[in-house]
Amino acid sequence: MSPALIRFENVTKRFGTQVVLDGVTLEVMEGELLVVIGHSGSGKTTLLRCVNGLVLPEEGCVLVDGHAVAVGDLTALRRRVGYVIQAGGLFPHMTVEQNVAIVGRATGEDTARRSARAAEVLATVGLGDLGPRFPRELSGGQQHRVGIARALYADPAIMLLDEPFAAVDPLARMELQDEFVRLHRQLHKTMLFVTHDVDEALYLGDRVAVFERGRLLQVDTPRTLRQRPASEYIARFLRRRAAEGTT
Ligand SMILES: Nc1ncnc2c1ncn2[C@@H]1O[C@H](COP(=O)(O)OP(=O)(O)O)[C@@H](O)[C@H]1O
Ligand SMILES: [Mg+2]
Repeated sequence: MSPALIRFENVTKRFGTQVVLDGVTLEVMEGELLVVIGHSGSGKTTLLRCVNGLVLPEEGCVLVDGHAVAVGDLTALRRRVGYVIQAGGLFPHMTVEQNVAIVGRATGEDTARRSARAAEVLATVGLGDLGPRFPRELSGGQQHRVGIARALYADPAIMLLDEPFAAVDPLARMELQDEFVRLHRQLHKTMLFVTHDVDEALYLGDRVAVFERGRLLQVDTPRTLRQRPASEYIARFLRRRAAEGTT
């Protein structure tokens, strides 16, 4: 079994009096694609942000490759942990290439180096020749791929993806999911992928972690979740959302 690259140990996070993560213990193995699923407000984004030091828990700790995450040098964290944020987050006044190379600019790489690396990661996500364009000149699906290319730029061991395909129409979304599976096989990075779409979770995840109100209810392979849900709540959650289709 591969070692755990990310470890949440009894992590509790509060905002004011609200408990947003409640004693979460969870391991993400090296090379694993672990999907986190739960209703809106269940703490998914907060969980991701504990990994790159944007959120610090009050109790417990988060270990990345055996080292406790501390809020500190964000530049170093960005090189180690790629982050695809919920709303896409491309800068409209910057070209695709400039958006992708933003970490390179922050760390003082020269223009030629940035340009070469941006071309490489854009090719990896199938957008080889779109570097000179602006985000508004791309389709929604292409914009999401740019977000992924940007997170890949520094070749991080870990990728955090927060509902990366949420705003895409169903057909484009299926295409993105297939490409994403291919990309994960090809790059073999450790990925923590948040969604609130059951079909997406069961399709993509090596394992799926089900959250409700900050608590981890069950983490298992898609097959085990379907066959042996740990509670009636989980069984209902999986059934209902799968029947509703994607939203
Ligand atoms: N910076 C913050 N300050 C106060 N409350 C927050 C903050 N971030 C998140 N929350 C609250 O924590 C809860 C969980 O949020 P979040 O992790 O974004 O959930 P999810 O991503 O599952 O929708 C929500 O009730 C949200 O309003
Ligand atoms: Mg969220």
